[in-house]
Amino acid sequence: MVKDLIENNRAWSLAKTEVDPNFFKRLAAQQSPEFLWIGCSDSRVPANEIVGLDPGELFVHRNVANLAPPQDANYLSVLQYAVEVLKVKHIMVVGHYGCGGVQAAVDGQRHGLIDHWLHPIREVFDENRKELEGLEDGAPRMDRLCELNVMRQVRNVASDVFVQDAWLRDQKIAVHGWVYSLKNGLITDLGATVRCLDDYKLMVGRS
Ligand code: CO
Repeated sequence: MVKDLIENNRAWSLAKTEVDPNFFKRLAAQQSPEFLWIGCSDSRVPANEIVGLDPGELFVHRNVANLAPPQDANYLSVLQYAVEVLKVKHIMVVGHYGCGGVQAAVDGQRHGLIDHWLHPIREVFDENRKELEGLEDGAPRMDRLCELNVMRQVRNVASDVFVQDAWLRDQKIAVHGWVYSLKNGLITDLGATVRCLDDYKLMVGRS
């Protein structure tokens, strides 16, 4: 029931102010999160909860299959604000195993508009076809595609001019690639972190 949600909200607000009477006053005055989370819209991957952060601590952008498409005005607006105004220190692209979006991208079915949104994932699949087709059809192949998709989105973020310009003015930003497991609630760091222009050049094979 929707009514229950409002009641939950009242209880939550009360609980927060009981622990810290100035909690909302402080948050209303300003936000200064150190992290930007780019994750999937999937209801089972609630950003703040998974990493134990309070309101005000995590700037969040979510869409189907955690994409960072270089022409998407929504994502770019979030990225620019996070980098230039909030000056976040870390950006994490967070995929998750069992992602319905990743699966829909390559299941050969027609789903409508979402097929266009998921187009970049089909490109990732095609570029890694040899590796992926060497894996068992089903979960192992899809799990790997989830990882490869995260790494591609890390690359998109790291190659964006907002991020590159920040590095050029010596602003510290690290871009991380993580995958979350719905089965045990644990995050795996894919070890694809990009911390500076040199890291980026290394990643794209440019010296
Ligand atoms: Co998903």
